[in-house]
Amino acid sequence: MTIQRTSGENSEAWFAKARELLPGGVSSPVRAFGAVGGTPPVIRSAQGAFVFDIDGNSYLDFVGSWGPLILGHAQPQVVEAIEQAARRGTSYGAPCQAEIELASAVVSSYPGIEQVRFVSSGTEAVMSAIRLARGATGRDLIVKFSGCYHGHMDALLVAAGSGLVTFGQPSSAGVPEGYTNLTRVLALDDEAALEQLFTDEGDKIAAVIIEPIPANNGLLLQRPAYLQKLRDLTSRHGALLIFDEVISGFRLGPGGAAEHYGITPDLATFGKVIGGGMPVGAFAGPKAIMEHLAPMGRVYQAGTLSGNPVAMAAGLATLQFLKANDAWTQLEARGQYLEQLLNNSLSSSPIPASLARIGSMFWIAWYADTPPRTAEAIAEETGPFYAHVFHGLLARGVALAPSAYEIGFVSLAHSNEDLEQLAATLTSVLADLEPPAASGVN
Ligand SMILES: Cc1ncc(COP(=O)(O)O)c(C=O)c1O
Repeated sequence: MTIQRTSGENSEAWFAKARELLPGGVSSPVRAFGAVGGTPPVIRSAQGAFVFDIDGNSYLDFVGSWGPLILGHAQPQVVEAIEQAARRGTSYGAPCQAEIELASAVVSSYPGIEQVRFVSSGTEAVMSAIRLARGATGRDLIVKFSGCYHGHMDALLVAAGSGLVTFGQPSSAGVPEGYTNLTRVLALDDEAALEQLFTDEGDKIAAVIIEPIPANNGLLLQRPAYLQKLRDLTSRHGALLIFDEVISGFRLGPGGAAEHYGITPDLATFGKVIGGGMPVGAFAGPKAIMEHLAPMGRVYQAGTLSGNPVAMAAGLATLQFLKANDAWTQLEARGQYLEQLLNNSLSSSPIPASLARIGSMFWIAWYADTPPRTAEAIAEETGPFYAHVFHGLLARGVALAPSAYEIGFVSLAHSNEDLEQLAATLTSVLADLEPPAASGVN
């Protein structure tokens, strides 16, 4: 199997320059194609379901900027809202109507929350929610799950998702041991381990944080009974349950995974879709917890550009469009159609492969007859095999994420024909691949 390099001359030249000026040539690691080899196309523009590079190539895009672009690229209402907001000033450092309107949209959509604080990224949302949980409970321990990624705050950079799996690092350099001493890591889907931890240290646990739909290390869909167990144990021991809905929030439905599973967390974190493609994060909960935050309470948290009027306008336009167009029903229908198409394609795979899908999120588990539920159950050979699939697709004009562990996103901009194109292209890529004798990126 040989990898077809797809980047054109212009991308090669610009990316060489990027490597000089930006570490790895990028502003966020997985973009560098380190896991799949080759040079990433340098992007000039994007519209609807497509991105266009500086060599004139177009790609049918299922990355969607890693999740935010649920309406597709440069969606007209969102662009209009951004333009209008920018004309009224790009930042005030003072309360604005758009942040109050967006907060109202979030509170009325998501179960159990009364107040929202806006920040500028998912990482910041999680970092602030953890501090709030510790401040509100007066406890120090945090529990996370291996394979779940919650952004790059020090204390949670242990056994995290794709960026780290991709680079084979169990955790990051530069994080002193003392910063992770108060973090406990459990495997997903293991009720006994959960019970044992609560028996041993339940009265010291401030919060358990989980991606209720783990989507950063493959798509590791959990049993509802397991999530319910988590809710029961945290409630019984006075620990807060934090649902990290940075990916799932407003993508799966207006009430995210909480609504889907009928399980209400104590705090929820948001990012991606809530900002409509602009840098926005948020965390939210009932007043009794949120009022521990400054200026009401003693948990300090702040941000120069938090609640930025242009970013708020993009988020608000996105949520309004989703609600007005019954988007989640449409996205579920497209997801179902894609599932059917991809299952057909995968039947011709030279190795066992299965599809995990929920709503508009999908992931192919290679070397697996059924999709795994834990990070530990993902086959090691997945990465090298995926590199060939990835480049085969890219060479034929279809972009999935440049990592075997990242999921794909369907947007409202994807037509049925686009979904058929993905499936047909995958079928043709798989037909060209022989069963892998030796793995490795050529
Ligand atoms: C579940 C989850 N939490 C937190 C983050 C961090 O968000 P950001 O990249 O905006 O800092 C991510 C990013 O992918 C995520 O998927």
